[in-house]
Amino acid sequence: MKKKRKIKYKNLFIIIIIVIISVLVIVSITNNKTTKKEDKKEIKYNNKNNKLDQLENIDKKIDYFNKDYIDRYIAYKEKNPDLNIEQVIKNVNMHLDYNYYENTEPSKYINTEKVLVNKHYYLESDYIPDNLENIDTNYSREGMRLVSYAKEAFEELSKQAKKDNMNIIAMSSYRSYEYQTNLYNRYVKEDGKEAADTYSGRPGHSEHQTGLAVDVYNIKETYTNFENTKEYEWMQKHAHEYGFILRFPKGKENETGYQYESWHYRYVGKDIAKYIHENNITLEEYYATKIKD
Ligand code: DAL
Ligand code: ZN
Repeated sequence: MKKKRKIKYKNLFIIIIIVIISVLVIVSITNNKTTKKEDKKEIKYNNKNNKLDQLENIDKKIDYFNKDYIDRYIAYKEKNPDLNIEQVIKNVNMHLDYNYYENTEPSKYINTEKVLVNKHYYLESDYIPDNLENIDTNYSREGMRLVSYAKEAFEELSKQAKKDNMNIIAMSSYRSYEYQTNLYNRYVKEDGKEAADTYSGRPGHSEHQTGLAVDVYNIKETYTNFENTKEYEWMQKHAHEYGFILRFPKGKENETGYQYESWHYRYVGKDIAKYIHENNITLEEYYATKIKD
């Protein structure tokens, strides 16, 4: 009887020991797993923090760095590792990390020569610029309008061109939202949406609605051939002196969102035009690097 009890106690003792060891093993495994998970989290967090740190340091050198875009800079750099950080910041500031017409925003600086309208910024359907005036028909087709200060500047430009034996004539200028809607829809019907988007602004996204843009021709040639005229050469040399820029230059299709248009000029004022001309950049690049929201 005594022996039996002894054996029972022994068994109980062994069972307790086994249970304790099992519990210890389970606790240790679980602990290990959680630590690993937390380690991973910590590494991820540190990586992001390091990247942020790097970008924050750059902030001190690049004055167009925008703190609100930090996550977008990081994501864009990851997708485009070959771009340097200046290019990453510039491109994201131009919203090139978005598709065209995705996450669009209302245009800023409306009713000023600084306004930017493109595939990322739009004008409301009821937006009509202040002070639209007819361009003198010596320099324009009948009934073409621009905002008064752009009209004055264009007339001066065209007057001087005439003195130099050139014809620089406005053939399309201010276009209302409704006009642009019909125009764009017509192009889509004729050419398909994809093609139309390369040369025509969707309603609200055409800067012709600002009353600051003008398409020119020399009367003799169709406007699409403007590139091959002496008037075009003249515009390349002198447009900026009157506050106009070639808005959709060759080689900048990605930034502007449009194919090259030798005939489309935009009034931005003499200072901005001079800067854009001298630095061979677009209005988008000017915005991304020179204008703080
Ligand atoms: N042709 C230019 C891009 C416009 O439609 O505004
Ligand atoms: Zn145009």
